[in-house]
Parts: sequence; C-alpha cells; structure tokens
Amino acid sequence: KEDLPTTVVVFGASGDLAKKKTFPALFHLYQRGLLPKRVRIVGYARTRLSPEDFHKRATSFLGPEAASKDVEGFLRLCVYVSGQYDVPDDFRALRKEIENQDTAINPEGRSERVRVYYMALPPSVFLDVATQIKGCVYDDGCTNRIVIEKPFGHDLESSRQLSNDIGALFSEHEVFRIDHYLGKEMVKNILTLRFANVFYEAVWSHHYISNVQITFKEPFGTEGRGGYVDEFGIIRDVMQNHLLQVLSIVAMRQPESLRSEDIRDRKTEVLRRILPIQLEDTLLGQYVGTRGGGGKPGYKDDDTVPAGSTTATYAQCVLHVDNDRWRGVPWVMKAGKALDEAKMTIRIQFKDMPNALFPNLARNELVIQVSPKESVYIKTIVKEPGLSTNLAMSELDLSYHKRYQDIKIPDAYATLILDVLNGDHSNFVRSDELDEAWRIFTPLLHQIEKEQVVPLPYEYGSRGPKGVDEFASERAGYKLSAREYHWRPKPTP
Ligand code: BG6
Repeated sequence: KEDLPTTVVVFGASGDLAKKKTFPALFHLYQRGLLPKRVRIVGYARTRLSPEDFHKRATSFLGPEAASKDVEGFLRLCVYVSGQYDVPDDFRALRKEIENQDTAINPEGRSERVRVYYMALPPSVFLDVATQIKGCVYDDGCTNRIVIEKPFGHDLESSRQLSNDIGALFSEHEVFRIDHYLGKEMVKNILTLRFANVFYEAVWSHHYISNVQITFKEPFGTEGRGGYVDEFGIIRDVMQNHLLQVLSIVAMRQPESLRSEDIRDRKTEVLRRILPIQLEDTLLGQYVGTRGGGGKPGYKDDDTVPAGSTTATYAQCVLHVDNDRWRGVPWVMKAGKALDEAKMTIRIQFKDMPNALFPNLARNELVIQVSPKESVYIKTIVKEPGLSTNLAMSELDLSYHKRYQDIKIPDAYATLILDVLNGDHSNFVRSDELDEAWRIFTPLLHQIEKEQVVPLPYEYGSRGPKGVDEFASERAGYKLSAREYHWRPKPTP
C-alpha cells in the first residue's frame, strides 16, 4: 500500500481511553515500524498543557514501555493542542496546527493525505466534536476517517438517532466504529479457522452442533466505574456489542471474498435472522459482598451506584438464529463481573455420537479461548493409554503460548488502529449491523426496565447466581458429561 502523509488527531488525549489504549497502541505500532513513514499525532483535549508536559504525560501512558529507547523518537511525532469541545475558534487553531504539521511531513504539498480523527471521548461530547471537526477541520482534499467507540446509544432509537447525526456529517465509509473484541487475536482467527480448514465447515450446522456458549467472565466489580456500569448494565456493556459480534462471526456464512463489505454483509445477514431475546430466556444477577477478612464489597456498596439499583452485573441469555443452518441450536451468552475468574471463551458443543459403538460417550467440544491465554482445543475421546481399554476424555490442544512462544500478541487496539491507517473496515461495525444488534436486545432491555426485574444475588468471586449451570443445560441442552475432567499437565521432572 502507498504510504501517504498521515495525521492522527486524538481527541480526549489526556483521558482514560487515550491513556490505557490509544497511545500505547500507537507506540506499539511505532516500535514495529507500522506507522506511516510520514506521520504526526496531534493530541487535543481541554486540559492546558505545555508541549513538555504533554510529552511527560504521553510517556506516562506507555506504562512499562516508558523506559524504551524508542520513546524519544515517538514523542517527536506527537504535538498537543488544548481547546474546548464546542468552540469553533479552538478547532480552527487545531486545523492550523494540523496544517503546520502537514508542511513538515508533506513538504512537496501532495494532495493525497490521510487524516484520522480518533474520538477517545465520552458520548456526551461526541456530537459536538464531530460537528466542529466537520465545520472547522475537515478537508475535502484528504481522505478523512473518524474513529468512534461505544456507547453507540442505549437502545435502538437512540442508536439510530446517533447514526443519523453522525451520518449527516460523515459518510459511512469515513466512519470506523470500534468494538475492540474484533481486534482480538482469537476473534480475528475465527474466520481463518472456519474458512481455511476443511473439517470445521463440514460440521458447522445444526446437523452436528448441539449448542454454543459464548462466555465473558471478569473477576472484579465496579472498581470506580459504578456510574457507568449502573447506567449501562452488563447486557449493554458487553453482550449487545462484544459477545454478539463474536456470535455473528461464528454463525455467518462464508463471505464472497475477504473484502470488508463482503464480510460485513455476511455478519449483518445472520444478525437479521436472530430473534429478539425473550425475558424468560434470560437470567439476571447482581453481586453482593462477601463477609469476613478480605471480604469484598457488593455492587450496591459502591458509592457511585444508586441505592436500590436493580442493574444486572451478570446475565445469561439464550438466542436463536432462525435460518436453515442454525434452527434448533441454542446460543447461550453469559457475561458477568465480580466472578471467580477472568475468561472469554466460545464453546461449541457437538451432538451425541450417532450409532455409538461405545455407550455413554461424552460430547466433543471445540473451545476457542479468546482470553486470558489464547488457545483452541477440541475435547476428544481417546483410549486410555496403556493396557486399559477404557475411554478417556482428552484434547487436541493448540495453546498459543506454547506453540508461538516468540510472538507477542498485540493489544486489540494496535491491530484496529493499523486497520484504520490502512482504510480496512473489516473489523469495524457497520451502521446496519449496529442497528440489528440493538433490534435484538432493545425489547428485552425495555421490559427489564419497565418491569423493574430484580436480579438474583450472587457472591463476589463466585460462579454467578444460583442456577447458572442448570440454566445452560435446561435451556440449551448443554451436557456437562465430564465434570471430573480437569486436565493439568504435571511438571516435567
Ligand atoms: C469494555 C467494557 O468494553 O470491555 C468493560 O466496557 C469490560 O466493562 C471490557 O471490562 C473488557 O475488555 P477486555 O479487553 O478486558 O476483555
């Protein structure tokens, strides 16, 4: 690809997202020589900062990498402009700075240039900033790309409103909606696994698959984000976006090509076939504190959570994809905070072996572990090794930390920013996809709010409210046939 002069403007450059994700990702790309050769990064935020102070702050964003010898070179690419989010003069000053930087990286004055506007901003100022960009900074002569991140509204109507407002300013082709799960190694891998290996696609339907579980578990609670968590709840925070995106890639048909629109067409197509979720197919929970030494606070002990809140911090629900491939296969989504572990998995459980030669066989499962340790494994039955003729549950295991020891898997944001720089939309959410995602969840969310459904309590650090396992087995036919199966390799002597 041609290396065009590029300016990346990071709005909200002194905020939390910029600190935790945007700047570390840009630095990661810089270190690997993956930023365009002629590039400038312009930070913009309300805080007044001298260039030195901004550099100090940006360095502190890099965490353990702050000591790297590459920091100095990176900082030479970074400048800062302070301004309000709704004052046209401030945006004109920003434009002037961008143009100054342009002269430095584009002395021959080439007309082909790229500008990325990265909105590391809270939703309350989204539209103000987008409006000012369009009015005062946008340059018809460049390729303009705007990067935005959830929340994209809080239900179908508000999301449509936001899409219309953004759509009035930028074309869909200019918009990159981040869902950072689409940048995760194992999520990107699903497409390859499915369509580059003959044996997955052969069994990928209701003929062989009994049920699918997509699970997200976090071992911590609100941790100071109580206000946000309470406003959105676990369904909006994780399920409507991250888990549904994963589901759509597992369930979609093979795209016509690897072009981004072909991929997004297929995802949207399958989302259209998902029925709105029913309240009776949903289990809600909210964590409570644990007593005793080292006891953990409950959700409602958080000062930033309103007293009497009925917001769910745990949810499990069953979705149905109403097409010929998937009719009859329940898709279970589970997500919770303050649980017993950190984990994100996609678990595909196959049907019982037909005409089994061996009685009472446990089921095969294909598990894609997205985090913490990337792996793909297939629970497989083997003859117990040795003189025994018993059967044993084992696994074909591809654990990335063993198989790809020298490779550092990049953070999702690094791969997504690289995609933006390359103008590749494949791993970003199109507005019609977003619309479908809200269509599936909005009736449920409204019903929960209207009826003030009270979530079941579960202890901080537990597996969730009572009945979590029964729910998956009763509602989705999940067979936990090998509870005793816990393979732990013995350390080699
Ligand atoms: C975010 C949610 O989108 O994803 C957070 O708002 C959640 O509540 C986070 O903790 C999880 O992302 P990751 O990459 O840590 O799995």
